[in-house]
Amino acid sequence: MIGAFAFKMPTRLVWGSPMNDAVPMEVAALGATRVLVVTDPGLAATGLPDDLREALEEADATVEVYDQVSGNPTTEDVAGARSVAEDSDCEAIVAIGGGSPIDTAKATAMLLANGGEFSDYQWEGRPIVHRSHPFVAVPTTAGTGSEVSKVAVISDPSQPFKKGVLSPLMFAHAAILDPALTVGLPPHLTAATGIDAFIHALEAYTGKRTNPLSDLLALESMRLAFSSLEAATADGSDLDARGDMMLAAVYGGIAMDQAGLGLVHALSGGICSHFHLHHGLANAMILPHAMEFNVSAIAAERCHTIKTLAGLGASAGSGELVEAIADFVRRLDLPVGFDDGVVSIAGVDWDEIAEESMRMVMVHNNPRTVTVEDCRSVLAAMLT
Ligand SMILES: [Fe+2]
Repeated sequence: MIGAFAFKMPTRLVWGSPMNDAVPMEVAALGATRVLVVTDPGLAATGLPDDLREALEEADATVEVYDQVSGNPTTEDVAGARSVAEDSDCEAIVAIGGGSPIDTAKATAMLLANGGEFSDYQWEGRPIVHRSHPFVAVPTTAGTGSEVSKVAVISDPSQPFKKGVLSPLMFAHAAILDPALTVGLPPHLTAATGIDAFIHALEAYTGKRTNPLSDLLALESMRLAFSSLEAATADGSDLDARGDMMLAAVYGGIAMDQAGLGLVHALSGGICSHFHLHHGLANAMILPHAMEFNVSAIAAERCHTIKTLAGLGASAGSGELVEAIADFVRRLDLPVGFDDGVVSIAGVDWDEIAEESMRMVMVHNNPRTVTVEDCRSVLAAMLT
């Protein structure tokens, strides 16, 4: 029997319309004429945010740009964007880039509408978010799913761990989905962001809060990633593969937002805090080991479906599924643990990382109950 569930995803998804046409239309639909564009220095160097500014100005908008968002966005990034937004009396924010600018814009939009500081709203004991300033997301990577999620994850330099704020009122007004914007993403980032999208879908499909609608999206996300992520990584100009991965990221992002994540993301929270690794790269390193830990707890019919998507026959066992997932990661030229020198592991306090991972809320959605000893074991497996 299907258990109780609710599903809310209010973001308008715009596909097949170039950014320079779609964004001014969405901003006009919001009734906004003063716009803040939020991006990062790397994307600013490509000229895309300037193109967007010109397109908005041609549509009679007044545009300010904040292009200083860091790779792991901080409360200082949010304060910088907020300052420009307040000084220009901005009526709408447009985020262009990967998850970092989109999360920064999401947090800025929330604070513009509600006041206070980001730390006032983090997890436990947070005041209720009443509303959010309108914002439009233009993803230039296919992975984080931030364009369709209600969560902003921001580091606070005064606190040891990354934290997030979430509210059903923090969804983007619209997401402009143009696969051509991801063509310039280099292979290693295409692979790392793409495997993140796949893991969102896998963890949503195998978690405790799964529901029939998130399942539909998660399954299609995994199918698209299995069929197109290698092609998008090998040839960044393959627009069919890029399109498939943009959909995989959106479907995986919605599934994640509605059904939750699991052990991979819990451990990557602890690992990324310590090593400052790229989120998708860390997830790739964890994935085969977390899958090995979880596979016995995943319902047989779900395991069977994932095996089929991975190209395995009906008779394949759990070990073959774990190995197929590890092979998928290897074929993307991503690491499957700490053993290939990605980071220095000398003197690392693994107990601290295990304990930090247990503080991540997604650990409670994992298909198999996780203890701090289990986290230590999976981390140890990543070292062998
Ligand atoms: Fe992720």
